[in-house]
Amino acid sequence: MKKILLSCVVLALIATASCKKSSETPKLIPIPPVEIPPVISNKKLIEVADFKIGAAVKVASLQGDASFASTVKSEYNQITAEYEMKMNFIWTADNVYDFSKVDYLINFAQQNNLAVHGHALLWYQSFPDWLKNAGLDSVAFENKVKTYIQTYVGRYKGKVRSWDVANEIFNDDGTLRVESQIQGRFKDPIGFVGRCFKYAHDADPDAKLFYNDYNVVLASGKRTAMKNMAIRFKKAGVQIDGLGEQFHYRISTSQSQINSGFADLASSGLLIHISEADCKVNVNDSPAYVLNDVDKQKQSDFFKNIAKLYNALPANQKFAITTWGVTDKSTWLRNSTNGNKEYPLLFDENYNKKPAYTGFLAGLN
Ligand code: GLA
Repeated sequence: MKKILLSCVVLALIATASCKKSSETPKLIPIPPVEIPPVISNKKLIEVADFKIGAAVKVASLQGDASFASTVKSEYNQITAEYEMKMNFIWTADNVYDFSKVDYLINFAQQNNLAVHGHALLWYQSFPDWLKNAGLDSVAFENKVKTYIQTYVGRYKGKVRSWDVANEIFNDDGTLRVESQIQGRFKDPIGFVGRCFKYAHDADPDAKLFYNDYNVVLASGKRTAMKNMAIRFKKAGVQIDGLGEQFHYRISTSQSQINSGFADLASSGLLIHISEADCKVNVNDSPAYVLNDVDKQKQSDFFKNIAKLYNALPANQKFAITTWGVTDKSTWLRNSTNGNKEYPLLFDENYNKKPAYTGFLAGLN
């Protein structure tokens, strides 16, 4: 339609121009239709993507920063709690659960038509101290964790679209992370993780269940371990729907390595979640760093590349790309070492869209 209209306009202009010169009958010169690239600059990511665009959010920011809340509502269609859905925030003592922050987050999501990705049921860094100090053997520990998962997932049945059942159990070489709660306690730690997938599935059979980890596209050993775990679960009839790759990278990370690792991850055939994307620009963590146009462009290219990669997945493997935060002003990557000079996200301190956003958008087209 656009092409036809444009041809007509061109023909009409030529006709008018010729008429002005003389009173002869104007000659109509046929002009081939011109391809007009789609206008995307004023579109939003959520309008262009055929999968969810997620953000990690802090409940305090949703409550206390109106610009934060409005950006989340208008620019995203899925949220993940940056902290408040982890075990140590909820399971405050034996048989005591504090769901107040999660309730707030879920209500916010429901009121604003946002999906919720639950993160994370099991993570070595979030076991609460009381549980670590309780001196439980593997059977007693598993019984407690089973009750926790069933209570938690059951409470939000139908309200949480998906869960990271386990986060970061592998090292980059594919061996199990050495830590005391899972690896140190169970003879077959992966068997325990599989049973936790089952407890979650029993509590909400419709929720999509993920294993999540970092550095996955760069570390082939870890990737293989993840894929093998999924194969083992499937053989045993344990539901696992997807694999999450956090995607905490930097402007210097090799795009070709990302691309080949991503293809290998996708060969699992499972849903793929880019689950915590951000891209560091201050790669040396220097407090003297000054954000500049070259680095902004590199960051834009990074987000464009991952959008392209993700977009090329088969439809039945697309799930979401989630960024780990919204605005540079409250990223977890700002710290005293880099003097808070880090800018890894799609929105600047004033909630303006950065070139990273436009790159991401361009990659989706
Ligand atoms: C990991 C975890 C996240 C978060 C980040 C740092 O990626 O999966 O939950 O804690 O570290 O913020």
